[in-house]
Amino acid sequence: MSQLQVKVASIQDVSAGVRHFTLVDAHGGELPAFSGGSHIVVTMPAPGRTYRNAYSLLSSPEDRAHYEIAVHRQPQSRGGSIYMHEEVKVGSVLDISYPVNLFALSRVAKHHLLIAGGIGITPFMAQIHDLERLGGDYSLHYGFRSREHAAFADALKGRVSQRAVCYDESLGQRMDFDALLRAQPLGTHVYACGPQGMVEALVSTARALGWPEHHIHSEQFLAPPVGEPFTLKLSKSELEITVQGDMSMLEALEAAGVDAPSLCRGGACGRCELEVLGTDGELQHHDHYLSDADKASGRKIMPCVSRAKCGYLELNL
Ligand code: FES
Repeated sequence: MSQLQVKVASIQDVSAGVRHFTLVDAHGGELPAFSGGSHIVVTMPAPGRTYRNAYSLLSSPEDRAHYEIAVHRQPQSRGGSIYMHEEVKVGSVLDISYPVNLFALSRVAKHHLLIAGGIGITPFMAQIHDLERLGGDYSLHYGFRSREHAAFADALKGRVSQRAVCYDESLGQRMDFDALLRAQPLGTHVYACGPQGMVEALVSTARALGWPEHHIHSEQFLAPPVGEPFTLKLSKSELEITVQGDMSMLEALEAAGVDAPSLCRGGACGRCELEVLGTDGELQHHDHYLSDADKASGRKIMPCVSRAKCGYLELNL
């Protein structure tokens, strides 16, 4: 994956557990263009292992002088978000990927309904820049646990208060997806980003109401779950690699120097799909890319988030 070098220009705590980083080109140039909904993958060279996490860009896509990301310190962090919170300082130089957009706004939507939960607000911050610039018709519904968890709520209030509705769960305020979706004009596209349960509830409500599949957009960056260690056997390169319990298969392949493709690193895009040749245990699928039939076949796996409960797993790699 091509890399850019950026320098951390500023760091700000914006809500409980959420830190906001402003990144500039390490060599003083302009950064590559992107569109609202894009993410970058940040490489974090921690002692003994390298973490790579995807973060949505939240700055204005028109501003090539800097990128902004926000990192939620995950309570169950395997190390990536802790690294960003504890090791990265103003002046630190980071390797990042070029921006990729897997959560792009539709060009034909009559109305854009943006549904954010918690840190899931970040891709919408950049999309709102695009919608404001292009005169797109949109509304934002943003839910959070309490005021102290409401990252960027004040900034949004200043910028787009007439289009944004906030839901503070600590006050008993909750989104009613059914009512919200039923109230939308024909030609609306809905976009959801946030906790898995929220996104799945929104998507299943939209489907149940008969929304066309291509009008429903969602994004989640799933963290790979931990598990028991096992051995990967690579049939083509004849390598055997141990996947530690707190490592994803993709991370283990990368640490061993294997050229394994990836894009979202969160089980969504399909880029990392690998063919399974055999195992003495069972596959544990955690992605939301493969179909149920693919998962049941036992022939495919997404190594960025899925793993196996086994002694060995053989891959056609
Ligand atoms: S990298 Fe996107 S699904 Fe694995």
